[in-house]
Amino acid sequence: MLNIVILAAGLGKRMQSNLPKVLHTIAGRSMLSHVLDGARALNADSIVVVVGHGADQVKAAFSAQQDLQFALQQPQLGTGHAVQQAQSLLKEDGEDDVTVVLYGDVPLVQLSTLQALLDARKNGLAVLTEILEEPTGYGRIVRDQAGRVCAIVEHKDADAAVRAIKEVNTGIIAAPTAALKRWLSQLNNNNAQGEYYLTDIIGMAVADGVNVEVAHPQASFETLGVNSRVQQAELERLWQAEQARRQLETGVTLADPARFDVRGQLTCGRDVFIDVGCVFEGIVTLADGVRVGPHCVLRDVEIGAGTQIEAYSHLDQAQVGRDARIGPYARLRPGARLANQTHVGNFVEIKNTSLGEGSKANHLAYVGDADIGARVNIGAGTITCNYDGVNKFRTTIGDDAFIGSDTQLVAPVHVGRGATIAAGTTLTKDAPADQLTISRVKQITVVGWKRPVKKTK
Ligand code: UD1
Ligand code: MG
Repeated sequence: MLNIVILAAGLGKRMQSNLPKVLHTIAGRSMLSHVLDGARALNADSIVVVVGHGADQVKAAFSAQQDLQFALQQPQLGTGHAVQQAQSLLKEDGEDDVTVVLYGDVPLVQLSTLQALLDARKNGLAVLTEILEEPTGYGRIVRDQAGRVCAIVEHKDADAAVRAIKEVNTGIIAAPTAALKRWLSQLNNNNAQGEYYLTDIIGMAVADGVNVEVAHPQASFETLGVNSRVQQAELERLWQAEQARRQLETGVTLADPARFDVRGQLTCGRDVFIDVGCVFEGIVTLADGVRVGPHCVLRDVEIGAGTQIEAYSHLDQAQVGRDARIGPYARLRPGARLANQTHVGNFVEIKNTSLGEGSKANHLAYVGDADIGARVNIGAGTITCNYDGVNKFRTTIGDDAFIGSDTQLVAPVHVGRGATIAAGTTLTKDAPADQLTISRVKQITVVGWKRPVKKTK
């Protein structure tokens, strides 16, 4: 049985925030949810989050997640005390029972590193350690003459010789569950901080003849904790640099890897080009040869091969086919489904609408709640009047229709195949196929009309 305990009871005073620290985000998601990714990827049998400061807020934020249990730690008397609060929730079935302790404010530990920690353990205890040039503040890994780990000594309890040790405890530990419970019951707070240290279990394991091993993180960002907004911002950049590196390695061209933000999952085909300042949120898929211009925001979208998205476009929950051209300054809202070879130009907003193959809306339009066929031309200034203040209605437009500029389509309304709607029409009744439909005040010229002139005194 694999148990995961995530320590998240600390105050996070240096965040200067009303929000509990573990709810602060990296890459658009709370730190705690990043930690949970790792826990779930390990296929844990149980996940216990130890909460304390802001417990209600943390629980509320994760209340929908059925696989979590919470243990309340009140007051916070140290990391060992925190794990004690989770103890009764740790599962055992006698077969390779292990408990992994993670920190809620160390969000980016990767699965491969956790796997390496579990592999290192060999039924005993394993500590994730690191060599730091500046180890001040960390618990030090003390080894015997044979080089075996014999204890972790906290910085505040350490003498000069121990403080000279550069190998530090990252805080992430894997321990056999039954023994862990026994060790936890033996902890005391006779130390410089008057806290129950989880790290004291290392000495106990050694005394019990339990094997103590170490593993190391694959990348240094994995074990960085967040205690302040400065550290949060630094970790955000490191993580984004990592996201950029992963994209570059799969063959994506990034105009500038330092100006690239993924807050979710971005999957790219071959020869994708992404210009500077783009933000990708949720699940975004860009097929082969897609080009994304500068300063675009794409959230939960799927873009077909060869499509170009020009500068400053905003796409949210939309699908775009192949060889389409979007933007500059286009806005695709939820439910926009654009077929192959469609063109959507500047200041065009499309919502809950399907736009058929080869159809175009090139300038200044609002198209909402519409089903539009193939090869339709939507003129500049066209507006679907889809909302009467209470209800939404649909507009349907057949293939090869031509909607003249500044047309208002008062839904529900249908435009037949091949119909032409004259510019300036307010369409309140269905327009028949292949005919010209026009609604326009008849143009007159007032002969002899004079502009008013200012009276001179
Ligand atoms: C701890 C380790 C130290 C290690 C360092 C790595 C102990 C005694 N020390 O020190 O060896 O080098 O982390 O960063 O374990 N927490 C609770 N309840 C508590 C206390 C802490 O939930 O009562 C949580 C915090 O929210 C945090 C984590 O545990 O997520 C670590 O706490 P922190 O105070 O940062 O530990 P350190 O003293 O830095
Ligand atoms: Mg502390």
